[in-house]
Amino acid sequence: MMDEEILRLLKKHPSAFLSGEELSRRLNVSRTAVWKRIRHLRSLGYEIEASTRSGYWLVQSPDILAPSEIKLLLKTKWLGRTIHYFPALDSTNSKAYELATGGAKEGEIVIAESQAKGKGRLGRNWFSPPYLNLYLSVILRPKIPPQQAPLITLMAAVAAAEAIEKSSGLRPLIKWPNDILLNGRKMAGLLNEIKSETDRVDFIILGIGVNLNIDEKMFPKEIRSIATSMKRETGQAVSRKDFLALLLKELEKWYTIFLEEGGNVILESWRRWAQIKGRQVKMTSFGETIGGKAIDVDSEGALIIETRHGERKRIVAGDIEYRR
Ligand code: BTN
Repeated sequence: MMDEEILRLLKKHPSAFLSGEELSRRLNVSRTAVWKRIRHLRSLGYEIEASTRSGYWLVQSPDILAPSEIKLLLKTKWLGRTIHYFPALDSTNSKAYELATGGAKEGEIVIAESQAKGKGRLGRNWFSPPYLNLYLSVILRPKIPPQQAPLITLMAAVAAAEAIEKSSGLRPLIKWPNDILLNGRKMAGLLNEIKSETDRVDFIILGIGVNLNIDEKMFPKEIRSIATSMKRETGQAVSRKDFLALLLKELEKWYTIFLEEGGNVILESWRRWAQIKGRQVKMTSFGETIGGKAIDVDSEGALIIETRHGERKRIVAGDIEYRR
């Protein structure tokens, strides 16, 4: 809390010193306590000039996703107001699951600068190098039956697509169920984990990974030709904290729409982002490959495919490929 307050006051005076005395008065602590916090902030990468006569001057803030940076930018009412921040984690989803099991509340989020075991869909890994991208997990506790949980995934994909469009000016495509593509390459992915009882959801962990500033050559070879980042698509580095604040705002907005207006509004919007009707697709699901025409997603978010023989199949999980 004190770090955030110090940074807020220093940022109010972008090109001037703020005296130690004034800081200690505003924060109601001793000047030694202020100095201790300044040293801590420096260890996080804040460049702060200190002069015995003039006080403190914030020269530069690091590009980190620490609460002290994010809280100043947040425009949400409740989502992301409690931030669990880690320079490194195995997986933000695993951490969020653990926190939710221990009683963490709806809207609490977990952010890591890197993940050693980032989890992707269908048991894959999610490449998570430090300080370049976004690895976020959100704890939600919607009062819905478990069958409706996939709609939350579609909701999150819509929110992520909208945040990407607003931030980059480019229009992404959602590939069922929730890959976000730009020019045919994957920029973001979502992995949701759910804990539920027979008739109601206990909590949902919404895991979102967005490739922001990673360069193409840094991707492992296996995914280099199919993955992309915001920087690669726009030619410009993006502020990760601004993007995070925007994404949280969109998530709060779309989740509220889902709760207040129901799944149909989400499905309508998802359909506009996905443009899936009538596409020829090849589908791999549980080791089986099915080719056919995508008909639509149903009210629970499952994909309906019509095979060459006119048979309709309902797919709940898997990977699709578009055929042109
Ligand atoms: C996919 O395979 O498309 C889903 C990728 C999801 C990656 C994110 S990164 C933050 C969160 N924590 C994880 O371990 N995975 C998700």
